[in-house]
Amino acid sequence: MLTSGGDAPGMNTALRAIGFVAAEKGIEVIAFERGWDGLIDGKAFPLTRPSPSAPRGLLPMREVDRFGTLGGSFIGSGRSQRFFEALYRSKAGERARELGIDGLIVIGGNGSLEGAYRLHTETGLAVVGVPASIDNDIGCTGMAIGVDTALNTIVEACDRISDTARAHRRAFIVEVMGRQSGYLCMAGAVAACADAALFREAGKSEEEIVGWVVNVIQQAFGDERDKERVLILKAEGVSIPTSELVSRVQRQVEQHLPDIEIRSCVLGHLVRGGAPSFFDRMIASRLGFAALQALLDGAKSEMVAWQAPIPGGLPTGDRSVTRWPLERVIEESKALLDGTSPVVQARIRLMEAVAKVLAL
Ligand code: F6P
Repeated sequence: MLTSGGDAPGMNTALRAIGFVAAEKGIEVIAFERGWDGLIDGKAFPLTRPSPSAPRGLLPMREVDRFGTLGGSFIGSGRSQRFFEALYRSKAGERARELGIDGLIVIGGNGSLEGAYRLHTETGLAVVGVPASIDNDIGCTGMAIGVDTALNTIVEACDRISDTARAHRRAFIVEVMGRQSGYLCMAGAVAACADAALFREAGKSEEEIVGWVVNVIQQAFGDERDKERVLILKAEGVSIPTSELVSRVQRQVEQHLPDIEIRSCVLGHLVRGGAPSFFDRMIASRLGFAALQALLDGAKSEMVAWQAPIPGGLPTGDRSVTRWPLERVIEESKALLDGTSPVVQARIRLMEAVAKVLAL
């Protein structure tokens, strides 16, 4: 197996689950270092070891037990540039054959799942994907590993920012990760009791965004509402840079409310690290188990999904987990990112209704 793309809290829990379940079933597992590059270069280490006393002759490597509670990726992740080239995908396939690999579990986001699909179609290697990305932008799965932990971190950071914002009666614009997906911003804004959420999918122009933020701040600090702080979450994918947004809004707000200062905070990679939450540990363990089982059941090019938001998928022994062809996952991921998926449209409709409530 390997982890690829941006790391996500819970990737290690999935690795641990796969290592343990594999040992129990007597299946040897190796992990490639730093994503696709590890496979291309054959850099791998075992996650299981022989044991004459174990029921099926294998035990997990001792350190695998420690993985489950740690953030990041213990085996390393990466965004391989080489894997974009067919030549290196063919090398990866050769390497897998040389090493006698029967199947590959890929834990990662959209790019990694697309890479897995190409590797299968070009080399025939059986691949099963496990969705992991804090952005929650992977098709056919209701939740990806890492999203819940990232949201808990966002909420905690926003609560702290709210403390200092209230002390000074300030407005804060907090930028959260999500280059193409505004999910962390939308869900985080509701949970952090923010006054507004700015995300790319809303399709607003920079002018409209500035006007909206000015309006929210002026109303909130106006005599009638007289709020103690304003908190606005902004997704990384919104084209106007956060610093520029702050200065443009500040210039307009100070004409009416000269005492109000606007500050910003970019949470960035802070949100991607940290120990996985209970929820991420739970879904990572169950998805990891299902991925291994799918390979054993003969899956050739699939992803396991948590509570699929669209109808379809093959059932598994776990009522919350279904199996999806990677081709379908890739198609649905594209629709999530270009906004044509009913899942994104439902999110936008919900946030339009929520926006009126948040601003009160
Ligand atoms: O993993 C997804 C993500 O966190 C995006 O939200 C973000 O835009 C990107 O990764 C950042 O990637 P990198 O760590 O390579 O800068």
